[in-house]
Amino acid sequence: MTSKGNDVIFPLLLFIAVFKNTFGKNWDFGIDEDATSQDYPRDSLSNFTEFARNYGYAAEEHTVITEDGYILSIFRIPKGKNCRGRVRQPPVLLMHGLLQSSDSWLDAGPSAGLAFLISDACYDLWVGNVRGTYYGRRNVRLNPDADSQFWNFTSHEMGILDVPSIINYMLNETGSSELIYVGYSQGARIFFIMCSETFGYCDKIKVSINIAPAARVKYTRSVPIQLLTRFYAVTEPFLSGPRELEVLQKEGLIQKASSFFCKDSILAGTVCRAALALIDSYDPGSILTQTIRVLFGHFPAGTSARNLAVFGQNVIAGRFQKYDYGPSKNLELYGTVNPPLYNLNRTNMPVVLLHSENDLLVDSKDVQWLSAQLPNLIESYKVRHSTWTHFDNCYSRYTNITIFLKIREYLHKYSKYGSV
Ligand SMILES: *[C@@H]1O[C@H](CO)[C@@H](O)[C@H](O)[C@H]1NC(C)=O
Ligand SMILES: *[C@@H]1O[C@H](CO)[C@@H](O)[C@H](O)[C@H]1NC(C)=O
Ligand SMILES: *[C@@H]1O[C@H](CO)[C@@H](O)[C@H](O)[C@H]1NC(C)=O
Ligand SMILES: *[C@@H]1O[C@H](CO)[C@@H](O)[C@H](O)[C@H]1NC(C)=O
Ligand SMILES: *[C@@H]1O[C@H](CO)[C@@H](O)[C@H](O)[C@H]1NC(C)=O
Repeated sequence: MTSKGNDVIFPLLLFIAVFKNTFGKNWDFGIDEDATSQDYPRDSLSNFTEFARNYGYAAEEHTVITEDGYILSIFRIPKGKNCRGRVRQPPVLLMHGLLQSSDSWLDAGPSAGLAFLISDACYDLWVGNVRGTYYGRRNVRLNPDADSQFWNFTSHEMGILDVPSIINYMLNETGSSELIYVGYSQGARIFFIMCSETFGYCDKIKVSINIAPAARVKYTRSVPIQLLTRFYAVTEPFLSGPRELEVLQKEGLIQKASSFFCKDSILAGTVCRAALALIDSYDPGSILTQTIRVLFGHFPAGTSARNLAVFGQNVIAGRFQKYDYGPSKNLELYGTVNPPLYNLNRTNMPVVLLHSENDLLVDSKDVQWLSAQLPNLIESYKVRHSTWTHFDNCYSRYTNITIFLKIREYLHKYSKYGSV
């Protein structure tokens, strides 16, 4: 099923690559840096620990096993590079968005990747991964290449199983009784799902900072995301077998082709930049060509067709709701004809939201709606930079002066220096 998109994208990229190599020599594409390089950049081939260590950050790898047997690799940068043993408590958990992984927080490099910035501010930083990504593609019983059941999940299971297991693991490992949650896009969605559907976990969150939170997605304007998720909303019930149920995985055709073409500085600065702008929106000069060369080594990171389907269903319904099985099975499973809404009333710890006008994936109108549902909203902050996009939150060179100042304000407010 993923090959549908390749039918268009792959020949297009190929055409441009050939065209560029034949005629492009004398063209000035206005490339901002590293214009001569055509090899894979080192960072695009690195995993989290290698990437962080290459910049002098001591990263650890940890393995979390969920209640239903998914094996997740998560990462920790226990002390900032220049913190001399003084680390603020409680620990911080950073969760990536849809089709991303922990590595997305490094791709913009040490001056802009949020994992670097939070660590530099002297926090005990944990960077999570959810099931279905290349760091969550294992299970104690199920084989992702052979068992369809492995791919039978959505953001619901990430919220009720993955995040709680990561929290248990972190608290046990650090001896802390609480933590700070920072979630982006789907990473925020699964936080609200956890609070709605589980007991005892949200009480352990001191403050939850949510960047471009994808809870209700009624006003999502991105045409490619609409098409992709609506496509799966319609076709997913008819898919079968792991090869159809796993989508946009690392080492899949789309990711391999994207990383192959986008490693080239000229293509990265033109075609790949345009592709990102087409999915999201355009913020001139914000994402470095070098970051684009690196990020496609880690994106898309894979998920289930069913997870994309539930996003599509939510876009169509304009509601923050559970998977829709159709009226009769809904009635059987949920006791109602329509899928139940997630209950945002239960998210009763302090919550901070960040959003922006030029984000075509998570619209400010949906974030406004979300703010009104939350019983303990501290601040809903609209990013000052008027062209700030959805992807800017992880990939922009300017995260430090746009979103991180606000994030740091709340990290600081809800933490203090502790002994390590
Ligand atoms: C990351 O790379 C290192 C070095 O190649 C390797 O030892 C480690 O197992 C890798 N970790 C993951 C989660 O892939
Ligand atoms: C981020 O901004 C702060 C304050 O403006 C500055 O002190 C710090 O050096 C910046 N960090 C990076 C990595 O650029
Ligand atoms: C997926 O899991 C749900 C319950 O979580 C179950 O009702 C359904 O039959 C499963 N679907 C498949 C295709 O295994
Ligand atoms: C908690 O940590 C201890 C040692 O640090 C370990 O032996 C134990 O298995 C952990 N428990 C859980 C539930 O992870
Ligand atoms: C949330 O709480 C308010 C006030 O207690 C109540 O009016 C509202 O119906 C609740 N919403 C949900 C979804 O439970």
